[in-house]
Amino acid sequence: MSYVVIKCGGSIVDSLPDSFYENLVAIQKEGAWKPVIVHGGGPSITNLLDQIDIPTQFVQGLRVTTNQVLEVVEMALSGSVNKQMVQQIAKAGGKAFGWSGVDGGFLKAKPASNVKALGFVGEIHEVETSYVEQLTNLGLIPVISPISMDVNGQKYNINADVAAASIAQALQARLCFISNISGIYNKNQNIVHEATREEIQDMISEKVIIGGMIPKVLSAIDALEKGVPEVAIVNGLEPNNLQQFLEGKAIGTRLYLGKEGMEYVESNR
Ligand SMILES: Nc1ncnc2c1ncn2[C@@H]1O[C@H](COP(=O)(O)OP(=O)(O)OP(=O)(O)O)[C@@H](O)[C@H]1O
Ligand SMILES: [Mg+2]
Repeated sequence: MSYVVIKCGGSIVDSLPDSFYENLVAIQKEGAWKPVIVHGGGPSITNLLDQIDIPTQFVQGLRVTTNQVLEVVEMALSGSVNKQMVQQIAKAGGKAFGWSGVDGGFLKAKPASNVKALGFVGEIHEVETSYVEQLTNLGLIPVISPISMDVNGQKYNINADVAAASIAQALQARLCFISNISGIYNKNQNIVHEATREEIQDMISEKVIIGGMIPKVLSAIDALEKGVPEVAIVNGLEPNNLQQFLEGKAIGTRLYLGKEGMEYVESNR
């Protein structure tokens, strides 16, 4: 039985159809896969910040996080969005267990190293995988909010893509990013169905990949480099997207380190 980490973008959480949750529960009950959900919550956070007149600022797709923003991010992610997902899974006949990286020291954070002046934006250096093992053994579907804490008790806002990639690495799990787009668009506005590390780096320098897509593809590449066997970006509104991802079908954009990686995956199907 293998783990599959499914990152549900905040951009799509509100519009995921009931069939998505039904498929998720069916996949878990069939027993071949242990799904682990990690969720974002971009729009809910921005709405809440707007209501109290705190401006939203992003640098390279990452939300600048002051103390005040951090409090709102935690309310939205670990409160509203996390429990909304637990509820949807329950409605679909599954049992979900929602918690965040803060609880039990599940995700150990440190300040993000790649971009400066982001405030309390972190990355993950350790994942307590035994929690996931125990919960999934109990037949529960873990639903993880990415807020995390360092050894001193300081909380950090971790981009959900970054958290999902770290969890997938720790579990050596397949990684599926569910978002509001059908994959990566190239400069001609066509979806690319496969992309290598080099092609992605070019698309970032040419500013074809911008905003929230930057942390998604960078964490995807990082995950592949650290042994995650398969990564794809798929649209949450496409029916049976999860099943198709797990069956290795052409859906969304699959990411590879190099061309030889594509052949490797093809020959293993
Ligand atoms: N080349 C590209 N191809 C596709 N989408 C792109 C590209 N460049 C930038 N984007 C943007 O990236 C967005 C997806 O990232 P975004 O962070 O907004 O969503 P998410 O990660 O699913 O949600 P959340 O961050 O709330 O978890 C797309 O909706 C699109 O606007
Ligand atoms: Mg995002």
